[in-house]
Amino acid sequence: MTHCAVRSLWGQSSLLALVLLTCVQAQTPLPQTAVPTLPPPSGLVTAQPIGDSIFPALGQAGLDVLKYDLDLTVDRPGASELRGTVVLTVTATKSLPVLSLDFLGPPVLDLRWNGLLVPYRHDGTAGKLIIGPPQPLLPGTRAEVAVSFAGQVGVRPDPDLPLNVGWQAVPAEGERVGANFTLSEPDGTRTFLPVNDHPSDPATFTTRITVPAGYTAAASGVQRLEKVAPNGNRTFVFEQAQPIPTYALAIHVNRFERVDSPAVPVGVGGTEVLRRDYFPAGIAADTRDAYASTEGVLQVLADWFGPFPFSAYGSAIVTPRVPALETATLSTMPVASSAVRVLVHETAHQWFGDRVTLADWSEVWLNEGLATYAELLWAQAQGETGSEIVQGWYARAGRNQTRPLVATTERQLFDTTAYIRGALALHAVRVTVDDAAFRAYLRGWVSEFQDRPVTTADLLTYTHSRLGARAEAALRLWVESPDLPPMPER
Ligand code: TRP
Ligand code: ZN
Repeated sequence: MTHCAVRSLWGQSSLLALVLLTCVQAQTPLPQTAVPTLPPPSGLVTAQPIGDSIFPALGQAGLDVLKYDLDLTVDRPGASELRGTVVLTVTATKSLPVLSLDFLGPPVLDLRWNGLLVPYRHDGTAGKLIIGPPQPLLPGTRAEVAVSFAGQVGVRPDPDLPLNVGWQAVPAEGERVGANFTLSEPDGTRTFLPVNDHPSDPATFTTRITVPAGYTAAASGVQRLEKVAPNGNRTFVFEQAQPIPTYALAIHVNRFERVDSPAVPVGVGGTEVLRRDYFPAGIAADTRDAYASTEGVLQVLADWFGPFPFSAYGSAIVTPRVPALETATLSTMPVASSAVRVLVHETAHQWFGDRVTLADWSEVWLNEGLATYAELLWAQAQGETGSEIVQGWYARAGRNQTRPLVATTERQLFDTTAYIRGALALHAVRVTVDDAAFRAYLRGWVSEFQDRPVTTADLLTYTHSRLGARAEAALRLWVESPDLPPMPER
């Protein structure tokens, strides 16, 4: 038997979780008098967040999650609930006396550290799951942390959009059955999974998901298994073998038609990228038209950005009117946004955001600027000059309040500046060089930075080293100026 006592003191601020942990292991239940006195608490232990400038409470400094192994069940598609077990394979970059995961989600039922029950405290309001390992997690060592949970998912309103980020519940309506899907940028994954919820700690995912008869589950990565239980429940397993940020994890449950298309040889080393799209039953047939361009989009973008970074790509279409999201290997595309330009944007994010990840949320223009710029590259590949697009951007940037590119508040994360001024900043670099140099520059940004989270300072340094002082100065003006710089021209 394990007898554990967990005492915690939460400071005024939820940022610092102060936790006292004591734990005594005993072979058999002992009479009350024989219970050994608990040793005095060995002290306060502070779990320090990553220190994101926009979301100061997110994540844990020094924690490195290598892999999430998910075993999930959706009993009632369309309900705001989930149950399952997540096994995190973790390591550390400094000694961690406690682990502090982000988790607003369902109540925890069981928690094990390398198979042992250990003390924990789940503060569903602060959104932290504090775990006391038997010994501190040391750099160079690994542990497996298994968390089982079941019930209602958490709620995290988006500051700008009329939605809660995280696990979406789409109730049945008319002919349409209930459905669920993830829509988590920036910090919604913690509403339903215990995670180190920050893009600077990307990890691999194995997602096993069981759904009722007649339903299909889809998730980021390559499908490894599909099986049907005697009661008709279906289990699907997906493997996302390249690390991705937590917000980029796609999980979908719906009555889907899965459409496979020929693989596209644009992967690393010319390997085939598997192609599959998921269309909900009963959507208008012409919704599918845009997705016929997916192969061409992959080819054009791989030409500019280098090999597609994952083993599969496609879209999962959703019926609510939400913004599209670049979930890894499987963009989440609303019926109402099923247009090629949106598809190009989300596909570009597979390189910029999903593979090259952010060091801090204030740097999100690096994702949005590049994904928006891809819309111009696509138009030009279709034979357009693109000057209408660039002029349209410049006019729009001028109509809206502008600011330097690095965001300082949560509301700025996905504003016009991040997208449009961000795209214009890249255009300002492009016009200083020829297209061959610009192509090598974009490809080099991906290949050099795919394994270390990026900042604007990295891009400035990289621009100088690749393209020289003039390109760097052009970029710096667009990054730093409080006003809108002049229209970039060759
Ligand atoms: N990254 C998305 C895009 O531009 C936009 C986005 C931000 C989003 N937060 C979101 C979409 C939350 C859906 C939900 O492609
Ligand atoms: Zn985007």
